Amino acid sequence: MDNNNVLVTGAAGFIGYHVCKNLLEEGYHVIGIDNLNSYYDVDLKNARLKNIKDCVAKIKSSWNFYKTDITNKEYLIEIFNKYRPKIVINLAAQAGVRYSIANPDLYVESNIVGFTNILECCRNFQIKNFLYASSSSVYGGNTNIPFSEKDSTNHPISIYAATKRANELIAHSYSHLYGIPSTGLRFFTVYGPWGRPDMAPMKFTKMIFNKKTIKVFNYGKMSRSFTYIDDVVEIIKLFINKPASGEKFFDTKNPNSSISWAPHKIFNIGNPDNVNLLDFIKILEKEIGINAIKELSPLQPGDVVDTSSDCELLNKYLGLGPLTAIDKGVKELVAWYKYFYNLES
Ligand SMILES: NC(=O)c1ccc[n+]([C@@H]2O[C@H](COP(=O)([O-])OP(=O)(O)OC[C@H]3O[C@@H](n4cnc5c(N)ncnc54)[C@H](O)[C@@H]3O)[C@@H](O)[C@H]2O)c1
Repeated sequence: MDNNNVLVTGAAGFIGYHVCKNLLEEGYHVIGIDNLNSYYDVDLKNARLKNIKDCVAKIKSSWNFYKTDITNKEYLIEIFNKYRPKIVINLAAQAGVRYSIANPDLYVESNIVGFTNILECCRNFQIKNFLYASSSSVYGGNTNIPFSEKDSTNHPISIYAATKRANELIAHSYSHLYGIPSTGLRFFTVYGPWGRPDMAPMKFTKMIFNKKTIKVFNYGKMSRSFTYIDDVVEIIKLFINKPASGEKFFDTKNPNSSISWAPHKIFNIGNPDNVNLLDFIKILEKEIGINAIKELSPLQPGDVVDTSSDCELLNKYLGLGPLTAIDKGVKELVAWYKYFYNLES
């Protein structure tokens, strides 16, 4: 029986919350999975879930949430068996570059074992479209700027990046062996309302409001393709309607690792307008109306100096228009932060 069931893992996370809410508003039946781990503030994850519930009550859409770990294969099978989703979006992962240096085992568990469990379910339940989160961190030691999908990703500089690259390789092998259409999404510093407190945009916002010192690594000589959450959601929605297909004329003698004869593709999901970290802080200061206290510090192990996204492939494939400008995105982030933490004057 045909259905419009979409299964989203990491549903209480930053990107997962926005994706679920948006798909529910579009009329999809969404099945959310999250283990609600305490890597960062669990209250924020619960608040996101409550916000989804409130939205579901208003628009009377179909939402089922399961608090479980993607390493729990038996329970995953039960959930897949019950809902038989056609589309699976895997966003659950242990995120964070720096945390992975001290806790590699957590990353292997969630990002390798959990990820493979999801793929096993995709295989056994004949999923028609599998989308999964990869990361710009896979570019590691590559210094070709901007990062293009054609660049080498063989030199990861953190365990986190290595697990994300491993996801791409494992997904490719499943696509080849079982014909599962799969698309890897290399996200570049996603920010916006309901964001992640461990990432610079939310962290800096909090520090500026609380008049605390911001450690600016690599003495500020860093830049990021800050990518606004609404753009990411729109891109994911376009991919839902465009399952990956194999390339008929794939050149196996000169292989481009982002495409394949198998139905597997990889794309950069990043705003092409790269922003220097100190400029980003200036935009935040202006929006908040408070000057930041900055401490210029050395580069942290595992950190990439510049992450800049080449979007040519994505633009060609999806026919995208311009993405959200940084000052508009920061305005939305700060407005939400004030509302959520009761800082309205
Ligand atoms: N936000 C970004 O800028 C960014 C950049 C690159 C890649 N990514 C990737 O995108 C995905 C979503 O990122 P996010 O920013 O929303 O992160 P997030 O940490 O807010 O969301 C991930 C969610 O997955 C859940 N989770 C973690 N391990 C799990 C497990 N084993 N079983 C079930 N649930 C589990 C967490 O509780 C969390 O709610 C992640 O895979 C992340 O690595 C994000």
